[in-house]
Amino acid sequence: MKTLNIAVLPGDGIGPEIVEQALNVTKAICRKFGHELKYTHGIVGATAIDQVGEPYPQATHDLCMQSDAVLFGAIGDPKYDNNPSAKVRPEQGLLKMRKELGLYANIRPVTTFPSLIHKSPLRAELVDGADFMCIRELTGGMYFGRPQGRSEDGNTAYDTCVYTREEVERILHLAYKYAGQRRKKVTVVDKANVIATSRLWRQIAQEIAPQYPDIETEYMFVDNAAMRIIQWPKSFDVLVTENLFGDILTDEASVITGSLGMLPSASIGLHTSVFEPIHGSYPQAAGKNIANPLATILSAALMFEYAFGMMDEGALIREAVAASMDAGFVTEDIADGAKPYSTSEVGEWIVDYINKK
Ligand SMILES: NC(=O)c1ccc[n+]([C@@H]2O[C@H](COP(=O)([O-])OP(=O)(O)OC[C@H]3O[C@@H](n4cnc5c(N)ncnc54)[C@H](O)[C@@H]3O)[C@@H](O)[C@H]2O)c1
Repeated sequence: MKTLNIAVLPGDGIGPEIVEQALNVTKAICRKFGHELKYTHGIVGATAIDQVGEPYPQATHDLCMQSDAVLFGAIGDPKYDNNPSAKVRPEQGLLKMRKELGLYANIRPVTTFPSLIHKSPLRAELVDGADFMCIRELTGGMYFGRPQGRSEDGNTAYDTCVYTREEVERILHLAYKYAGQRRKKVTVVDKANVIATSRLWRQIAQEIAPQYPDIETEYMFVDNAAMRIIQWPKSFDVLVTENLFGDILTDEASVITGSLGMLPSASIGLHTSVFEPIHGSYPQAAGKNIANPLATILSAALMFEYAFGMMDEGALIREAVAASMDAGFVTEDIADGAKPYSTSEVGEWIVDYINKK
C-alpha cells in the first residue's frame, strides 16, 4: 500500500467548494486502488491575510514542504482587486509559493471532450482528438533576467533574457520523461534563428535527444508553433518551451478546447508539486454551489499521474469526468440551456461513477 501525503490549500472564492469535490474524488480513487491518503488543510490568499496577516504563511509553506503534492484551489478577492494600493495582496502568496517551492515547470494538458467540441473556436474536425501537453519553463528567461529598466531620459527600455544549462536540461529531461509515458514525441519550441538563449536551448536539446532514442524530437520556431496549434493541434504530443513563449502559447492552446472551468494545470517543483485549475477564484459564484469543479478534479488526475506516477488512477478520473459530461451531468457554464447541476452534485456523480467501476 502506498501512502499519499497531500497538502490541501482551498484558498479564496470558489476555491473551498471546488477543492472539496476534488478531494472527495481523490479519496474515492484511493479507496478503489488501495492507497492510503493523508491530507492536511492549509490557508493561503485573502483567507490567510484575513486570518494571520500574510497570504502564504510559514505554517502553510512548512505543510507544503512536508507533502508529496499540493492540491490548490484559487486565490483572489475583490476587496484587494479593487484596492490597488493594498500593501499585502493575495497574489503575493501565489508568487511566494512558486518561488519557495522551486516550481520550475508548468504543465497544461490540452485535451478535448467530445461533448464540448462544439464550444471550441476551431472547427470540430481540427480539434477532435487533440491531446497534447504544454510544458513552460517558469523560473528563467526574460521575466527574471536582469538588467531590466529604462534609460535616464525614459525613452529607451530593455529586458534581459537569461537561461543556464542547468535550467534548460532540467526541463527538457522532464519533457522526455512525460513523452515516454505518452505518444513519444517532443516538440522543442524556440527562436533559435534570432535569439541566443534559444540557440542554447536547441544545442542542449540536440545533446539530450540521443539519450531518448525511442522518442521523436521535433524542433520548431515559436511563430510556426503558434500557427500549428491552431491549424493542426493533433500533431503535438509534448511541447516544451521557455517562459515567455510558454506564457503565450499555453494560453493560446488552452482556449482551443472550450470552457475555462475545465482546464487543469500542474506546476512541478524542486521540493513538491502544485496541482490547480487554471481559472481564478470566480468571486461572483463563491458560496453558491454553482462553479464547475471539473478543472480541479482534472487537476487531481494530474496529481495522481505526475506526482505519484499512477497513470491508471488519473485515467479513471478522466473517464469519470467524460462520462459525467456525456450524461449531461454538468454545471451551468457548460449546460447549454439544459438543466444545470450544482458543484456538489457533479462531484458526487463522479465519485459514484468511480465507486461503481
Ligand atoms: N491561480 C489563481 O489563483 C488565479 C488565477 C486567475 C485569477 N485569479 C484571481 O481570481 C479573481 C477573479 O479573477 P477573474 O474574474 O479575472 O478570473 P476567474 O477565472 O476567477 O473568472 C473569470 C470568469 O471565468 C468563468 N469561470 C472561472 N472559473 C469557473 C468555474 N470553475 N466554473 C464556471 N465558470 C468559471 C466565470 O465566467 C468567471 O466570471 C481575481 O482576484 C484574480 O486575481 C487567481
